[in-house]
Amino acid sequence: MGSESNVRPEIAKLRKLIEEAKLGGGLKAIEKQHAKGKLTARERLELLYDPGTFIETDMFVTHRATEFGMDKKKAFGDGVVTGYGKVNGRTVVSIAQDFTFMGGSLGEMHALKMVKAMKLALSIGVPVVFLNDSGGARIQEGVDSLKGYGEVFYMNVHSSGVIPQIAAIMGPSAGGAVYSPALMDFIIMVDKTSFMFITGPRVVKAVVGEEVDEYNLGGAVVHASKSGVAHFVAKDDKEAIELIKKLLSYLPSNNMEPPPRMETGDDPLRSDSYLDNIVPEDPQKPYDMKEVINRVFDRNTFFEVHKDYAKNAVVGFARLNGWVVGVVANQPNYLSGALDINASDKIARFVRFLDAFNIPIITLMDVPGFIPGTYQEHNGIIRHGAKIIYAYAEATAPEITVITRKAYGGSYIAMGSRHLGADFVVAWPMAEIAVMGPQGAAEIIWRKELAAAKTPEEREELLRKLANEYKEKIANPYVAASRGYIDAVIEPSQTRPLLVSVLETLLTKREVRVRTPPKKHGNMPV
Ligand code: HXC
Repeated sequence: MGSESNVRPEIAKLRKLIEEAKLGGGLKAIEKQHAKGKLTARERLELLYDPGTFIETDMFVTHRATEFGMDKKKAFGDGVVTGYGKVNGRTVVSIAQDFTFMGGSLGEMHALKMVKAMKLALSIGVPVVFLNDSGGARIQEGVDSLKGYGEVFYMNVHSSGVIPQIAAIMGPSAGGAVYSPALMDFIIMVDKTSFMFITGPRVVKAVVGEEVDEYNLGGAVVHASKSGVAHFVAKDDKEAIELIKKLLSYLPSNNMEPPPRMETGDDPLRSDSYLDNIVPEDPQKPYDMKEVINRVFDRNTFFEVHKDYAKNAVVGFARLNGWVVGVVANQPNYLSGALDINASDKIARFVRFLDAFNIPIITLMDVPGFIPGTYQEHNGIIRHGAKIIYAYAEATAPEITVITRKAYGGSYIAMGSRHLGADFVVAWPMAEIAVMGPQGAAEIIWRKELAAAKTPEEREELLRKLANEYKEKIANPYVAASRGYIDAVIEPSQTRPLLVSVLETLLTKREVRVRTPPKKHGNMPV
């Protein structure tokens, strides 16, 4: 590179243009962005990529619109920065909207850049990361911006299940624009500075008369805990980028490759006697399934997804002897771990993601059933619960299920049972595998005998005796084991070494060896 004084004029011009392009919508707009507590698109990318590896594409693209003063508004890049580089040594494509130019609004050329980057990611088989910060469809460009959104959605759908797609919402995301993140695999929202909604507070007030601000309508906490739209919340832009990097460390680059294995230093043969007593003797008492997860999988590797949504189910990534696995569990600590509409959606969605990328699915089952009542029935627990069954039955990735305690009725079948295709099922000796709990079963089978009891105490005593008899004969792991529905009954302390062994045995399982009848695609209940 020549010094400034003897540099060729063409090169000097190029350098000047690059400097101009890097300013996006200009210094004033950058200041405004910082004042809101947000980083610019380029600052975010700098945090994401390994130093010096990001290669920007289409830096000099500008819009073509001339109406409504657009001929006077022009900036290189058209409000979006695209490119590729290395994140912890692995190639990742990114699309970062630049709010400093026209609020990151999406016009024809802005969308064209996005689609081009998405096509690159798909063709080379690498994850695509979207850093969304946009006022939505560029109003001045009318149908051209709608066409742009349509093409982005089309690419989202066709990339689905081939390459991981991650969206970080780092500013506004309103109107139909929310559907691009919604079509992706994971959404991270930055608390306080991001929001997602179909219509903003003003329209909400005009149409339904409700008074609500942006934060309570579509802020990060709302979407992470109530709607389930967001999988993660970050306190600021920096933390959002860290979450993206962490998530990427568990994901394969595409559906033909395994996720990266990592040495964790945890002994694969480590047993844990604490687990022998984690299940309370009284089956009505809860315990924390996350404690089981933290003790069974490699230490400090559990990365929970959808942490604040449908807490009666727990899903997330973990490592087992360094291999990436997906963990799906019931949480006896919350609603007794019973399944409801939201837990069904959460589980089904995660199982489908894991299967699409052939990530082994390890299910920890302690489930008393589906939550009863008019709210659940009227809102479609039948339709939503069916999604879990569909997802597990459809899955061909390695599937291992551990029954820690309750495995009742339809929920037993749904939660990764052998009957839906699990490859290996183990039970702890305190497992209760039956149509329903022993007490409920005794009350139905021996209704007449119980009614004949002379005092409530006598009835109580008889019920306890009959429930024990039911448990002894039916609600235990040994009946299922005698039929081969479960492969082993193990001491809880031995769960980790067994899972490592089973997982490593199943790693050579391949979809091509699992026969399914030819069809276009099934009709998953949605
Ligand atoms: C054109 C836009 C724009 C848009 C923002 N700007 N949104 N320009 N089209 N959609 C411009 C502003 O005019 C302003 O330009 C600059 O971006 C920064 O915006 P501010 O309003 O100053 O920023 P802020 O106060 O942070 O407010 C951000 C905002 C607000 C909440 C996003 O700008 C807003 O409400 N914009 C309109 C949002 C909207 O209705 N979009 C359409 C959604 S429907 P200057 O020149 O003053 O700096 C949609 C349909 C998609 O997207 C359909 C897909 C199928």
